[in-house]
Amino acid sequence: MLFPDYRARRMRQSDAFRRMMRETTLSADDLILPLFAIGGKDVKQPIPSMPGHFQLSIDYLVKAAARAFEAGIPAVMLFGIPSKKDPLATQAYAKDGIVQKAVKAVKEKLPELAVITDVCLCQYTDHGHCGVVENGVIDNDASLDLLARTAVSHADAGADMVAPSDMMDGRVAAIREGLDENDFSQVPIMSYAAKYCSAFYGPFREAAHSAPQFGDRRTYQMDPANALEAIREVTMDVEEGADIIMIKPALPYLDIICRVREEVDLPVAAYNVSGEYAMIKAADQMGWVDGKQVMMESLLGIKRAGADMILTYFAMEAAEVLNAR
Ligand code: PBG
Repeated sequence: MLFPDYRARRMRQSDAFRRMMRETTLSADDLILPLFAIGGKDVKQPIPSMPGHFQLSIDYLVKAAARAFEAGIPAVMLFGIPSKKDPLATQAYAKDGIVQKAVKAVKEKLPELAVITDVCLCQYTDHGHCGVVENGVIDNDASLDLLARTAVSHADAGADMVAPSDMMDGRVAAIREGLDENDFSQVPIMSYAAKYCSAFYGPFREAAHSAPQFGDRRTYQMDPANALEAIREVTMDVEEGADIIMIKPALPYLDIICRVREEVDLPVAAYNVSGEYAMIKAADQMGWVDGKQVMMESLLGIKRAGADMILTYFAMEAAEVLNAR
């Protein structure tokens, strides 16, 4: 149909029509809030590049989780900042590790809130890499056992779901096996399946003290130039038993979200990462954009591209906007 028979503006003329025509909607159900756990008590240390976010001691973290639950957010994603690091990341799988303690505390107070844990070694290794380092090289297979142990220890603490973000080959299968052997066959894996080697993680690395101490992550995280490789990564994780496939970052990779959504029949998650958050916050603080509107438009775009759920530092603010509608 062509103009003048078809007039695209006809269905845009009223709010009622626009609502009827809306193809994509957002709700608090779509959002997952990342939180950073640190030791101590009464600690609420601001993260300068992520205004509104803090390193939280467990007492505060439970309160933040409670606010998310009350706002209708179904899940939080926990990251830990340990007090000591070593070559084998022992604090990642310690029974009394920071994430393990945080999971327990949140589940005790908020049994209905889903607690997802990030499974990685980089916050816990002294070299800051996501796997075990042998002679300056990240050793894939030697890392799998530690990743599986970490996931099992999270499940043991009460985590509802584990989310490996390390990008070692074979980790989903190793974690699935570890969980199943330990009676956690009901604990799903949200795999960071296509995780790109991105400069957008900058603020997170400041927040989680997880920057690599030598080199970079290009031997394990994906080259931003590649899309077909994302399909291979995703296919591998599906076959190894992932329950949810994640793409990360989100906004510069909407094409990947779209392709993966068409490729797999599993739920697709997108991680709207720290740098994406920081840019909008900074531009808002400068008065250059309307931060709230840009936030909602970004989240809608990620959903429209095909994400079923979004991990985002905007989760609380976006839920407030959505709940006020
Ligand atoms: C740990 C991990 C990272 C992020 C999530 N898990 C950092 C990295 O890979 O360097 C990034 C999250 C963000 O930037 O918001 N491997």
